[in-house]
Amino acid sequence: MRVFVILPAAGIGTRMAAGSHAAAPKQFLAIGGVPVLVRSVKAFLEVERVDAVCVAVRGTERERVTQQIQEYGLGPRVHVVEGGDSRQESVSNALAGLQSSDDDLVLVHDAVRPLIDAATIERTIDAVERHGAAIVGLPAVDTIKQVERTAEGAIITATIPRERVVLAQTPQGARVGLLRKAFAEAEADGFAGTDEASLLERAGVEVAVVPGSARNFKITQPGDIELAEFYLQQAGAR
Ligand code: C5P
Repeated sequence: MRVFVILPAAGIGTRMAAGSHAAAPKQFLAIGGVPVLVRSVKAFLEVERVDAVCVAVRGTERERVTQQIQEYGLGPRVHVVEGGDSRQESVSNALAGLQSSDDDLVLVHDAVRPLIDAATIERTIDAVERHGAAIVGLPAVDTIKQVERTAEGAIITATIPRERVVLAQTPQGARVGLLRKAFAEAEADGFAGTDEASLLERAGVEVAVVPGSARNFKITQPGDIELAEFYLQQAGAR
């Protein structure tokens, strides 16, 4: 059984544009001098069981990413493929290109979650091996409200017991055959999801949850680079 990793990194990072890091896609911003995408790739290369890391990027970024792979000595386990217009399309393109069998295992990880740690990756691989599919999820600490969006703002319609909720992070993984089936069904039905689990769930696959951490957050808005640097300093100080 081989382990493949797909890193969708073809986003354009519009939510970041208003801040001090204007317009640069989030995966190319530097944290402590090292690009976000490079940090994400390195986290997976640290795990020996990972056979290959496949990075999905925009055609216009291919050269930059290939250069970074060389500059940081990321080596032969890293491959670059063309991304798409949505995260789902980027993952789908990468999945289509994997030279894998149905029993192999694939993890998908947002390139913009650079602080993922090896232990969580290992636990996710173990859970996929055991259950067929698994994601990293953060237990909710706040009380969760369901709302209806109105012209006046959000109005609460229900309170969801927080012990029944986790916030979906990545990696999200499955046996290659199961994920391919889930993607094929989503495409046939015109379903667009924001993560792999939503596609697996609707394909009837049971998905296990591995505990995540606040550190594994998604670089999304101005200030997040500084937050990531703070986490790294804390880790270094320990
Ligand atoms: O935009 P969002 O925060 O959901 O992006 C999550 C991940 O998906 C990011 O790493 C981003 O680069 C990637 N993505 C992609 N192709 C797109 C849009 C987003 O690979 N078209």
